[in-house]
Amino acid sequence: MAAMTELPNRCVKPPGPRSRALFAQVEQRMRGHSGQVKLFPVAFDHAAGCTMTDVDGNEYLDFSSGIYVTNCGHCHPKIVKAIQEQTARLMNCHDFATPVKQEFLEEFCSVTPPGMNAVQLYSDGTAAVEAGLRAARAITGKFEFVSFWHDFHGKTLGAASLALMSPDKGIRAPGSFLAPRPNCYRCPFRLAPDTCELYCVDFLERVLDEETTGQVAAIVLEPIQGWAGSVFPPEPFLPRLRELCDRRGILLMADEVLTGMGRTGRWFAVDHSGVVPDILIAGKGLGNGYPVTALVVRDACAEALDRISASSSFGGNPVACAAGLATIRVMKEENLLENAARLERIIMARLEALKERSPIVGDVRGKGCLFGIELVKDRGTKEPHPEAGKRVYQRAFENGLAWIPAGHILRMSPPLVMTEKLAERGMDIIEEAIGEG
Ligand SMILES: Cc1ncc(COP(=O)(O)O)c(C=O)c1O
Repeated sequence: MAAMTELPNRCVKPPGPRSRALFAQVEQRMRGHSGQVKLFPVAFDHAAGCTMTDVDGNEYLDFSSGIYVTNCGHCHPKIVKAIQEQTARLMNCHDFATPVKQEFLEEFCSVTPPGMNAVQLYSDGTAAVEAGLRAARAITGKFEFVSFWHDFHGKTLGAASLALMSPDKGIRAPGSFLAPRPNCYRCPFRLAPDTCELYCVDFLERVLDEETTGQVAAIVLEPIQGWAGSVFPPEPFLPRLRELCDRRGILLMADEVLTGMGRTGRWFAVDHSGVVPDILIAGKGLGNGYPVTALVVRDACAEALDRISASSSFGGNPVACAAGLATIRVMKEENLLENAARLERIIMARLEALKERSPIVGDVRGKGCLFGIELVKDRGTKEPHPEAGKRVYQRAFENGLAWIPAGHILRMSPPLVMTEKLAERGMDIIEEAIGEG
């Protein structure tokens, strides 16, 4: 283990007095913070590359990329410059064409899956997901959706209706159906991955036959579950889904808000499988922190997008396009997909070794710069250990690691620009926090 003296630099025990005071002031006006923020109420002042600094002067090594957003590192100089220049030139002109929009669309379509070049631009992932649902209805003339347990797609009515539990525990929109999906560490059918023959896909056929009215426009999924704890399906899952959709005349909609834009070491997570969806949603990393998201559909369905009005106050505004354009160029220039794959090897080696050593580590997993650690009370029973999840999350944060909790699962999404040395340093902090139990 490396010496614990280098970065991140600590001034006071965090959250420090300024953080606490500021958080309390903000809370007087703004309620409903995420559980993650409540678990560690720090207030941030500035950030650069892979480090963030709080208002007390404490530094944190960023293993969260904001929230899966700043893939090129915080405040990347080229992206900041592009945003500043565009801000001084033109910030909003409704839905009209601009040179920067044209350039951004060309650059974006150079990385989308083959045959997917029909785009609409939005300002958050949820709005793009909602537009995806409208597009699916316009393309097929059908109105039902099937999605999966524990996937997350956003918090407006349509997007939340795709989730098992809507955030306000309200009623889901009519025509929304759910099916279990593969989680080979915790199979919902209690089957074993080497003998199950993907029973979950057979079960999905039953949901389609027995629960829906047969008017299913799309099957919607996260190719890799993010919020559920970086849960990776077995390789044949996506191809089997594609085959099922083709056979039944159902669209496949991949929500890559979290997994897209290089997060998993390819531009999109579906690229690992060779599967091309009919509808794809990109967000988070697309503007490296500046809000820009996209709905993309297959060229063959492009005409349907004319029937779902795209215009909004901010979607595709010139500054968003400048941010997106600069982000993709930086990713290409700095070979960030290759770096993500390199970081995967370094971090997974450490995670595998940690799993060998630590009895509370039940499972570790990762692809590119998307990782998860599942903590259990007993490796045999796999009983989740949320108390350890909270403790380890807070301890590592205290020691200078900004990362993402999910009950008994800890999630890491370092920026794709991270150096090997910083990745090792982050893993030192995690090992120390887990080692203390
Ligand atoms: C897979 C997925 N879809 C949609 C969303 C919603 O995106 P946003 O928060 O930008 O509205 C998220 C957010 O975390 C997400 O992870």
